[in-house]
Amino acid sequence: MADRPYTLLSCCMSLDGYLAGATRRRLLLSNDADVDRVDEVRAGCDAILVGAATVRKDNPRLLVRTPARRDARVARGLAPSPAKVTVTGGAELDPAAKFFSDGDVERLVYCASSAVGAARRRFGDRSTVVDGGEPVDLARMGGDLFDRGVRRLMVEGGGTVHTQFLTADLADELNLVIAPFFVGDHRARRFVDDGRFPFNPEHRARLAEVRQLGDVVLLRYALSPRFGTS
Ligand SMILES: NC(=O)c1ccc[n+]([C@@H]2O[C@H](COP(=O)([O-])OP(=O)(O)OC[C@H]3O[C@@H](n4cnc5c(N)ncnc54)[C@H](OP(=O)(O)O)[C@@H]3O)[C@@H](O)[C@H]2O)c1
Repeated sequence: MADRPYTLLSCCMSLDGYLAGATRRRLLLSNDADVDRVDEVRAGCDAILVGAATVRKDNPRLLVRTPARRDARVARGLAPSPAKVTVTGGAELDPAAKFFSDGDVERLVYCASSAVGAARRRFGDRSTVVDGGEPVDLARMGGDLFDRGVRRLMVEGGGTVHTQFLTADLADELNLVIAPFFVGDHRARRFVDDGRFPFNPEHRARLAEVRQLGDVVLLRYALSPRFGTS
């Protein structure tokens, strides 16, 4: 298998396992202390990946927020924020989305082969569109990111993307934050879909850290022998 970046999955979910509410309104799960922790983790990565649905629904900036952390990266010869990465089958992404417009960083779009032409026409002037297969093969994508110099990849959701990284055994670490309330609506997005996960009753993941941050709790799981090596 090709080398791939150390891959850290990160998300915040409700007590009943949802990443978002069932409506279009954005649901605030995290708190200020955890947003700051996530910012620190981002600053230590070479690239941040979200699925195309998260780009469409949340319109995230995916940048390091804190000036001191951006300055420290620049002092290390890096861009102020990690590269932004997304994955799409249909290339239905708005070229005006913050993914494309905010920050002076590299942007990579891994696109299903059948939509590469449309993707290049829509946002090829503001990102590098990579043919990722049909559908995009995440293992192949990891190899390509590694070849582009990405050694530490942070995956910030959503559930479709997390499910694939987990079931394909392509994750080294999971940072799962639990918000202290219920969503209580099965139409909302769950953390993961059904699937065959490498961690199950016969093979339990290793809980490496528990950290309270105000009213939320961070659970850090080691998912591979590479945990903590990068
Ligand atoms: N609480 C948190 O920490 C957190 C973090 C992030 C997101 N969220 C929430 O999660 C929800 C979105 O999650 P989601 O599961 O619906 O979507 P997602 O994982 O963000 O994105 C799914 C999309 O990514 C593309 N994709 C994924 N795997 C692919 C593959 N192998 N090949 C080609 N394309 C692929 C497809 O895009 P196309 O449809 O373009 O083909 C697919 O529809 C939102 O409600 C967001 O608010 C929560």
